[in-house]
Amino acid sequence: MANIMTVLNMLEEIEISMKNLYQWISEEFTDNTELYRFFQRMSREEETHAGMVKYQKRLVRQNPNSFNEVSTDLSELQEFLQFISSIPEREHNLTPERALKLAIELEGMDEERMYRGVIVESYPELRELIHNLTRSDEEHCIFLKDFARRYLKSDPASDE
Ligand SMILES: [Fe+2]
Ligand SMILES: [Fe+2]
Repeated sequence: MANIMTVLNMLEEIEISMKNLYQWISEEFTDNTELYRFFQRMSREEETHAGMVKYQKRLVRQNPNSFNEVSTDLSELQEFLQFISSIPEREHNLTPERALKLAIELEGMDEERMYRGVIVESYPELRELIHNLTRSDEEHCIFLKDFARRYLKSDPASDE
């Protein structure tokens, strides 16, 4: 069960864990400038998303009484967070193909999207933030798929 600040903290943690994950992926490819730069950029953008959540937290802190206290079950979001954080321990010998596939999967996770709907229902004040975070994921999906298409075509090692 959680109040609005706990929800925001969790959303911020998810963006930060995505930032860390992309940072980790980029460092797996330090000998590949193109991939390294691509995932560095993804990482910086996740940091921007975390900043969007931080801004909302500031608004809540400034007007604590204008937000309803609603209890929300965050266990699924917690599981998602754990899933992201455990990836570096589970993924050994990450190939470019695997890294891109993994990122596309994470950005498109239905579970997390569904959960965002629940948050908006509980806290209509967060509608705009949630909308912006979802749009950012969609942009990342497009950006990733576009990059993967170009990159894997030009990478002779990934020939099927
Ligand atoms: Fe994000
Ligand atoms: Fe993203």
